[in-house]
Amino acid sequence: MQDATAQKFDSWALNGKAEDMQRGHYKSVSAMLRSARFGNEFTFLDVGCGNGWVVRTVTSRHPGCRLSVGIDKSANMISRAASDPGNTGRERYLCADIEEWKHRGRKFDYVFAMESIYYADSVGAALAKIYGLLRPGGVFLCGTDFYAENTSTKRWAAAMGITMHLYSEGEWEDMLVRAGFKVRVRRLKDPAAKDAWKRNTGTLFLRGRKPTG
Ligand SMILES: C[S@@+](CC[C@H](N)C(=O)[O-])C[C@H]1O[C@@H](n2cnc3c(N)ncnc32)[C@H](O)[C@@H]1O
Repeated sequence: MQDATAQKFDSWALNGKAEDMQRGHYKSVSAMLRSARFGNEFTFLDVGCGNGWVVRTVTSRHPGCRLSVGIDKSANMISRAASDPGNTGRERYLCADIEEWKHRGRKFDYVFAMESIYYADSVGAALAKIYGLLRPGGVFLCGTDFYAENTSTKRWAAAMGITMHLYSEGEWEDMLVRAGFKVRVRRLKDPAAKDAWKRNTGTLFLRGRKPTG
């Protein structure tokens, strides 16, 4: 039996909202990926990959990406992602909940998450899991539009009708630090956006590095 979050996004996979998210997140995600400065050989994991557009963006733009994995707890999102004609062959998609996922392969160089971690049962547990999935020196790129300072997005939780954990910028930073990351925080604003919050408040972008020592 799927939980309410998976059911909600199963319907979004089929009603055009997956593509709405792709359009809506595009500018912030592009800035997050630019900040990564991907090397010659790397692996990438997208947690809550939706229709897989970021997984494919990374493989198609970066020949050095040896493997790009997308996980999502919505089975319909994963079947959309896996059947997309834009896949290059270096993508893998799995229906899994980040908190329960048993990954037996090599650790990742990069883990990415856009607008997905605050749906976890426990955000702290999800962050600890992500920390464990990264190699020492690996980088976590985490974007969220739903955070306390972004007051215009607070109504989203009631509209969605599923659990969404609302934290402030400082609380997000603390949670990443507690998971073990060295953290940098930025707000990604879009001066040309129609939505005032995108111009004035922006996407909260946390970049966490797993220490090598
Ligand atoms: C708001 S959508 C964002 C999708 C994609 N990152 C994007 O930017 O287009 C959140 C996605 O995270 C997935 N998700 C939520 N909680 C999850 C969890 N605990 N484990 C894996 N996926 C999860 C949902 O099923 C959904 O597809």
